[in-house]
Amino acid sequence: MSSDTVVVTGGAGFIGSHLVEKLLEVGYRVMVIDDFSAGSMSNLSNASEFGSQLEVVRQDIAEPGLAKVMEQAGPRYVFHLAAQSDVRRSMADPFHDAKVNVLGSVNVIESSRKLGIERVIYAASGGTLYGEPESSELPVTEGVKHQPLSNYGVTKKVVLDYLFSYREAYGLDYVALALANVYGPRQDPHGESGVVSIFAGNLAAGRTCAIYGDGHQTRDFVFVSDVADAFVASMTKGSGEVFNISTSIETSVNSLYWEMARQHKMSLHPSYLPGRTGELMRSCLSNVKAGEILSWVPHVTLSDGLSQVIEWVNKNN
Ligand SMILES: NC(=O)c1ccc[n+]([C@@H]2O[C@H](COP(=O)([O-])OP(=O)(O)OC[C@H]3O[C@@H](n4cnc5c(N)ncnc54)[C@H](O)[C@@H]3O)[C@@H](O)[C@H]2O)c1
Repeated sequence: MSSDTVVVTGGAGFIGSHLVEKLLEVGYRVMVIDDFSAGSMSNLSNASEFGSQLEVVRQDIAEPGLAKVMEQAGPRYVFHLAAQSDVRRSMADPFHDAKVNVLGSVNVIESSRKLGIERVIYAASGGTLYGEPESSELPVTEGVKHQPLSNYGVTKKVVLDYLFSYREAYGLDYVALALANVYGPRQDPHGESGVVSIFAGNLAAGRTCAIYGDGHQTRDFVFVSDVADAFVASMTKGSGEVFNISTSIETSVNSLYWEMARQHKMSLHPSYLPGRTGELMRSCLSNVKAGEILSWVPHVTLSDGLSQVIEWVNKNN
């Protein structure tokens, strides 16, 4: 592999596999490093059509041997997306969460330093980074205090500090993308923001969907291909910065449900269950900085994105 090789940790996962396809399409050789704890080879079936341009290595980012594997690729850029990405699991098993998300990330960053990588591009979590902001702070800008309310949010935040300190100490360049609620085909319902894929699966099977709380809680749903574009834009712009990658549009879980039900031509009402402790009431991130510095804007509307999810679920069930 040559100098136009990139490494994508977590490349067999939901967002990672879309990013891998995009990078292959624009001519990069890609080494995927994934332990397949959540990702799968089936997520990479489109990417596999690029033949030897794609190399897939099974490797736990928290275990020794990572730098050696990365060295074989000789990459210029490292996209770091591998993570334990289930918020509830982070509360049930904080040690595993910290092992993967903190120690694993330190291993990725330290290996990148040793190998002289040009830039690390990190998938941070905009949905958890800012905790529960005041209504007056919405849509939240990157300058709002970082105060996550879950173990997952904490472990994802800590990596921002490591990236900052490595840049100061060693000149290892980085960009961190604070992703809002990403949705799209191949999303695992157990991930950080699986509500779209859970509703899609239930509606396709004619099952009643459950909404926790009154459904007025809001999220900022950003489509996965737009997110992949933001990662690519971050290869050349935005050195040492954190960017929200979002739509800046608040959508309530009720509106999401009824838009999906409409697309399924269903009038089945959802059932309402007691709200879950610790769940944010409102989440919406400003994407102004990404527009100004990365020249990135989201293109896919919620309605179009949802129809792509529904089509994918119908084909794959
Ligand atoms: N989905 C979202 O809405 C969202 C929002 C904000 C941030 N993120 C971040 O984006 C990244 C990708 O998320 P996703 O939704 O695609 O999740 P995902 O679970 O589909 O992808 C994570 C990938 O990392 C792999 N992985 C997990 N532990 C590993 C380990 N120890 N070593 C090597 N590989 C490992 C998994 O097998 C999987 O393929 C994560 O870092 C997540 O925290 C996601």
